[in-house]
Amino acid sequence: MPWLTPALPAFSPATHPYLTIRPLAPLEAGPLQAVFQGLSAKSRQLRYHTPVSVLRPAMLRHLTDVDPGRHVAVVATFGGRPVGIGRWLRDPLRPTEAELAVEVIDRCHGLGIGTALAAEAARLAVHAGVDTLVAHIDSANTAARGWARALGAAPHPDDPEQVRIAAAALAPDIPRHHPAA
Ligand SMILES: CC(C)(COP(=O)(O)OP(=O)(O)OC[C@H]1O[C@@H](n2cnc3c(N)ncnc32)[C@H](O)[C@@H]1OP(=O)(O)O)[C@@H](O)C(=O)NCCC(=O)NCCS
Repeated sequence: MPWLTPALPAFSPATHPYLTIRPLAPLEAGPLQAVFQGLSAKSRQLRYHTPVSVLRPAMLRHLTDVDPGRHVAVVATFGGRPVGIGRWLRDPLRPTEAELAVEVIDRCHGLGIGTALAAEAARLAVHAGVDTLVAHIDSANTAARGWARALGAAPHPDDPEQVRIAAAALAPDIPRHHPAA
């Protein structure tokens, strides 16, 4: 893909003015399909914890069943092309916790896009009253483990494949509680 080269510096609004991050609309499958096409077989397996070659209709329905306060997805686009998706899904049993999952097309790894998606997802999670983001990362997924560490994640003491991230620390500009006017 000639529109982005690995020589680009890490993301910042100044260096990447064409990278935008916005919420995915309900049932909006296009960006999901585009990002999925840009993931290698290995990245698909690491993201979905099983080999996945196509996004089947039931899975697409689940991934696009976004709903403010329960399931929020954000899509990063570069030059108008979707390059990554971040999402959180609230835990119905522990409503202040949500599962975080992020995927960035292989061509754009290492540019800060995964970090930017996690920060935006965290910002929206804090607004929705979530304080802890939980990510499930295979022990062999060294990239995602390094990424989670860089985000300040702590390993779960009893589950080596689970890391926990304080949402407010990831999106520090958002006050945890809004004082009454
Ligand atoms: C995990 C993933 C989302 C990271 O996205 P990314 O945009 O490449 O990550 P970033 O560029 O924001 O990386 C930020 C930091 O993470 C760490 N990191 C990223 N890739 C790494 C790698 N391959 N090895 C070790 N650390 C890595 C680094 O500390 C990096 O900071 P630095 O570039 O200043 O060194 C991406 O690799 C991906 O989509 N993987 C496949 C799907 C997946 O595994 N998802 C699970 C996450 S829930």
